[in-house]
Amino acid sequence: MDLKADDFGKRKIYEEMVSMLSSLCEGQSDQAAILANAAALIKEKTGFFWVGFYLVRPCIPHKPLFDSEELRLGPFQGPVACYQIARGKGVCGASWLRAQTLVVPDVEEFPGHIACSSLSKSEIVVPLNRPRDGKVMGVLDIDSIEKGTFSDIDKEYLEKACDIISAALWD
Ligand code: SME
Repeated sequence: MDLKADDFGKRKIYEEMVSMLSSLCEGQSDQAAILANAAALIKEKTGFFWVGFYLVRPCIPHKPLFDSEELRLGPFQGPVACYQIARGKGVCGASWLRAQTLVVPDVEEFPGHIACSSLSKSEIVVPLNRPRDGKVMGVLDIDSIEKGTFSDIDKEYLEKACDIISAALWD
């Protein structure tokens, strides 16, 4: 996506993305397959630097992050990233803990931000909420190489995308 696209242009791209995502999820239930295609679609349509999922998992017994659960790297598109994130840590862990979307215009201003790449300058993290009880099952994480990339429009459509994914996986 042209990061300088006007709001109308952005909405058009996102409308198409959300509609394609609905079709891609139809009749599917395999978690890895759905998340892999969702990451590929979002990356292709938006062109953001890193697009991927972290999933809430039981801690690995020999490498615990001092909790019973942690975020573990799931399907993604972009450079390699860290495997584990503790609850409350980094932007992803904070989004999980607060069960809310976090928009970070400048990652250097976010206390505890986890830098998987020095090229990332701004970030949005959207929780994946299980429809029946709202439990956060994971997060969608998107990084941009420019500061201040993400607006209310990105938030609106990426939350819609996460609703579609969560309904396919956990409804
Ligand atoms: N920046 C994230 C870590 C994951 S990477 O960006 C892919 C965070 O602070 O949680």
